[in-house]
Amino acid sequence: MNEMVKISYQALKPASGGTVVIFVDSALRLGATALLMDESVRSVLKRAGKIARFKGKKETCLDLLAPADGKFDRLLAVGIGTEGEMSQQDWLKIGGIVSGKLGPSDDGEVTILCETSAGAVSPAVAADIMLGLRLGTYRFDRYKSPKTGDEAEKPVPRRVLAAVKDVASARKEHVLRTAIGDGVELARDLVNLPANDLGPLEFVKYCESLRAVGVKVEVLTEKEMSKLGMRALLGVGQGSRRGSRLVVMRWEGTKATGKPLAFVGKGVVFDSGGISIKPAQNMEDMKGDMAGAACVTGLMRTLAQRKAKVNAIGIVGLVENMPDGNAQRPGDVVRAMSGQTIEIINTDAEGRLVLADALWYCQQRFKPRFMVNLATLTGAVLVALGQEHAGLFSNDDALCEQLLAAGRVTDEKLWRLPLSPAYDKIIDSKIADVKNSGGRYAGAITAAQFLQRFVNKTPWAHLDIAGTGMGVSASEINHSWGPGFGVRLLERFVADQFEKGSA
Ligand code: BES
Ligand code: MN
Ligand code: ZN
Repeated sequence: MNEMVKISYQALKPASGGTVVIFVDSALRLGATALLMDESVRSVLKRAGKIARFKGKKETCLDLLAPADGKFDRLLAVGIGTEGEMSQQDWLKIGGIVSGKLGPSDDGEVTILCETSAGAVSPAVAADIMLGLRLGTYRFDRYKSPKTGDEAEKPVPRRVLAAVKDVASARKEHVLRTAIGDGVELARDLVNLPANDLGPLEFVKYCESLRAVGVKVEVLTEKEMSKLGMRALLGVGQGSRRGSRLVVMRWEGTKATGKPLAFVGKGVVFDSGGISIKPAQNMEDMKGDMAGAACVTGLMRTLAQRKAKVNAIGIVGLVENMPDGNAQRPGDVVRAMSGQTIEIINTDAEGRLVLADALWYCQQRFKPRFMVNLATLTGAVLVALGQEHAGLFSNDDALCEQLLAAGRVTDEKLWRLPLSPAYDKIIDSKIADVKNSGGRYAGAITAAQFLQRFVNKTPWAHLDIAGTGMGVSASEINHSWGPGFGVRLLERFVADQFEKGSA
């Protein structure tokens, strides 16, 4: 839970003090309430706007401190350009921009007049603004010692009032957005947490905490996984002092029987590379090699908390890839749960080994409608797509289209890359059924081909989030190293594809 911002809703009426946020379009038009509040607002805006060249352009701001004869301490005008062109994502960004303007010194109440010259914004838009504000406020600062002495500033949670036309409906929308915000923040926390405090067992505890929102949580121990023949996953963890786990999270939100939706995440709590050890440079980033599992856990939290009318499975494979005396070696051959044998070429290509067993298990046990897996799988996807798009690989065009569409609305963008028999051949092994590395060329694709060998006819999509799941540059709605990538994307995908008409 984000404790730094306390959001509430009230009826749209002139604000009388503190900070007031208003929205201004590119014709410098504002809402009726803002005008009611103080006749001088318009002329102040005009004059100050001229000096500051504020033209109401989308995502620009004009910050006025204590305008003379104003009844408030601060007026923050936020540009929205042409209102009709504002997308949901744009409103989220607006909320993020507002959060960025509210510095720690600015205590007191903030009132956001959720209106434009066209009237009050919809309850959904108001709630989107507040979600953006909340996400923009998130900071991972639990390891920062509190400042002492003179410059000590006790952080006070900011009270933000959203002034809306239909308070009851906005509050309803807000409950949904709170579920999304909680899921995203859970995913961010998990990605940001250092590996000394987040091993497989600690990660399990976070999964188990979802019982509070009605998720059924099962934890498979090494012994149980061993019985199932999961030697691919277990091989990765065998060089670590810490045990491996597989967690199955189930949300049953509908009585309708039928195949569940399934999400599978790579949860390597730390990836040293194992015996094929990584260079020291940036190795610390490998605490985030569980971003796929973090997303699945955050998503399950969101779906359960907002009581999504679907049956969904979340599976995370939790291991630590370390190089101790018991570690797996290059050249080893392991048999996966599927029965296929894998030649280990590079112990640093471990994520695919974890997913091979997690995907197979998911498919065998649950016969899902589809499987979507997320993994910080390859450096190669960063080379191909940078941090703008996650790589999308799939055996199913329809599933791809649905995911791409959700990516466009949430701005968690995906880009489809190819799979084909020619790429698949690259990972044939001389002595086993498959090898875990196909070398440098098409590294993201050959990794996806490897996963596909552990998927039968089930519609399946693999999101390689190595570029988007950690270490991203800050945006309006994210200032965190771990952005919680994928939670909003998949929440939207579930809502649009599987809940429409079932309400
Ligand atoms: N976790 C890494 C991939 C990664 C790299 C994620 C950079 C985020 C940022 C993965 O386990 C890995 O090491 N992949 C290797 C595969 C290779 C050995 C075939 C890679 O990409 O170099
Ligand atoms: Mn690796
Ligand atoms: Zn890895």
